[in-house]
Amino acid sequence: MSEDSRLHRMEPLAIPLLEWFRDNARVLPWRSDPTPYHVWLSEIMLQQTRVAAVLDYYRRFLEECPDILALAELPEDRLMKLWQGLGYYSRARNLQRAAREIVSQHGGVFPSAYEDVLALPGVGVYTAGAICSIAFGQPVPAVDGNVLRVVSRITAYDGDVTLPEHRAVLTEMVQNAIPIQAPGAFNQSLMELGALLCLPNGAPLCGQCPVRDHCTAHQTGRETDYPVKPAKKGRRIEERSVWLILRDGKVALRRRPARGLLAGLWEFPGGTASPPPLPDLTDIRPLGRAKHIFTHIEWHMSLFAADASDDTLPDGWVWAAPWELDGVYAVPSAYRRPLELARELLPQTLEGSP
Ligand code: ADE
Repeated sequence: MSEDSRLHRMEPLAIPLLEWFRDNARVLPWRSDPTPYHVWLSEIMLQQTRVAAVLDYYRRFLEECPDILALAELPEDRLMKLWQGLGYYSRARNLQRAAREIVSQHGGVFPSAYEDVLALPGVGVYTAGAICSIAFGQPVPAVDGNVLRVVSRITAYDGDVTLPEHRAVLTEMVQNAIPIQAPGAFNQSLMELGALLCLPNGAPLCGQCPVRDHCTAHQTGRETDYPVKPAKKGRRIEERSVWLILRDGKVALRRRPARGLLAGLWEFPGGTASPPPLPDLTDIRPLGRAKHIFTHIEWHMSLFAADASDDTLPDGWVWAAPWELDGVYAVPSAYRRPLELARELLPQTLEGSP
């Protein structure tokens, strides 16, 4: 296939994609009234967060900040409160900085020129494309991870999609296929296909796909070979000790720091240093080892049990009864093995349970 015809591979897809999107698009609040402000807010919230988790935040945000001026004037503590739980708080701060720029430089009216949108704090090429196509009907692409996956499968594109030069090729394929009458619906049809059918990690639902007859990866049974990405870098291995400190049928837990890995969740004491986490422990016994694999880190854990000589615990630690390990305290699954052992070691009384 010539380079030129390759870049036009997506063109026959516009009509089946638009028809599928018309009939299958999820009903989402920002779609029913796609003003630039609504599309912008939804796209920023959706950047690192799933649709289901965004819905309530989006509604509450608009109740308190119905327009750009209200956002520009919102006190910082209110802003942080509205964002609390969504994470990646710089998104909220950039949102407000951008709102203030729109007020000071664009008379409070959301700019429509692509370059002006792209210049707003927190707005990158994808978000600018989404706003300009969905809210202003401009024929510009909006290529996020979902779209890269969809297009790389349809075209069986062998380049590494983490590299800018290959993203540029896939983006040009999308650009060439945008129907001038419906840029926003077209871009969203690709995102929606990626979210609902052309799934990552495991089987895509090709049987329901409106463009499976155009999809080279499907025809060759190689859907899961795309998008092409370099092999994951090796994970960092962290040696940790994990201590089951026991007293009166309970085990000690402490809260993890508010930031970083497993922020704010409960854990068994220990850490990367090996000495026991409390001074007055007796009957220290090793309980073997366990492993937990995160995306970028592996915990290799040495497990110990010990009895505490008295009830006192440092600030922020608690004594947890066995039944409290099931629901009162959120102990992450990284501690699955120590949790099992704690249940075996603690007498299964229901004392104090609801
Ligand atoms: N993810 C982010 N923005 C989206 C949109 N407009 N439609 C579908 N999925 C999305």
